[in-house]
Amino acid sequence: MLELQKISYQIKGGSREKILDHISLKFKAGEFVAITGPNGSGKSTLANLIMGIKTPTEGQILLEKEDITNLNITKRARLGIAYSFQQPVIFKGIRVYDLLCIASGELISPETAAKHLKAVGLKAEDYLSREINDKFSGGELKRIEIASILARDAKLIIFDEPEAGIDLWSFDNLVKIFQGLKKAGKTIIVISHQEKLLKLADKIVVLENGKIKYQGVLTKTLLNLTGDENGIN
Ligand SMILES: Nc1ncnc2c1ncn2[C@@H]1O[C@H](COP(=O)(O)OP(=O)(O)OP(=O)(O)O)[C@@H](O)[C@H]1O
Ligand SMILES: [Mg+2]
Repeated sequence: MLELQKISYQIKGGSREKILDHISLKFKAGEFVAITGPNGSGKSTLANLIMGIKTPTEGQILLEKEDITNLNITKRARLGIAYSFQQPVIFKGIRVYDLLCIASGELISPETAAKHLKAVGLKAEDYLSREINDKFSGGELKRIEIASILARDAKLIIFDEPEAGIDLWSFDNLVKIFQGLKKAGKTIIVISHQEKLLKLADKIVVLENGKIKYQGVLTKTLLNLTGDENGIN
């Protein structure tokens, strides 16, 4: 359903030649793909290119065989791509309930909104009518962002380190959300370092220095030594 053809991303005057170097990847409909690799390997950049936040300097991006390389974020969102940022964006001044309505594109009932909050471990009575501001903790924002993704009916969802900031929350809850999305037939790209999320994936892609170091099933060596020079066979 999604195909990256020889994607590169280069920054003029950057210290590193290419942040991403000729990445070719195919994502099938309903597939759950985990992208992992060391800090700075280009994972978030790849997610930004798929969502249209950045445009590749070389290569094409195809969504259901349609070339979307030059489409902006809004157009890609309309085509059914959703993105959960590594650092959640704060939509200041609107209520959590409003955000969930905006995300789903219609006026959902408070009960439906409550269901999405419950899925991320938040009590509706404490959050639904609360205005979003900088008083929210990082973990709360991350959960609210994930709830807004659940409210949307996207067919391709990219999660950039969904585990970030939610260490103290029962991690199994997050795993359950991903199991649910997988069951619902969503195509999922999750950037993660978490073993439990990697284990859910149909395919693992390891990035290193802007290149694909490995793609395939999760191996024991990979789990122990992701990022290690000799770890991936
Ligand atoms: N606008 C930019 N200017 C210069 N360098 C950049 C820019 N954007 C990204 N980079 C560099 O590109 C590399 C890849 O960044 P990216 O955020 O994609 O890494 P990542 O794999 O997501 O890392 P992490 O695991 O820490 O989230 C980093 O070295 C980063 O500093
Ligand atoms: Mg990142």
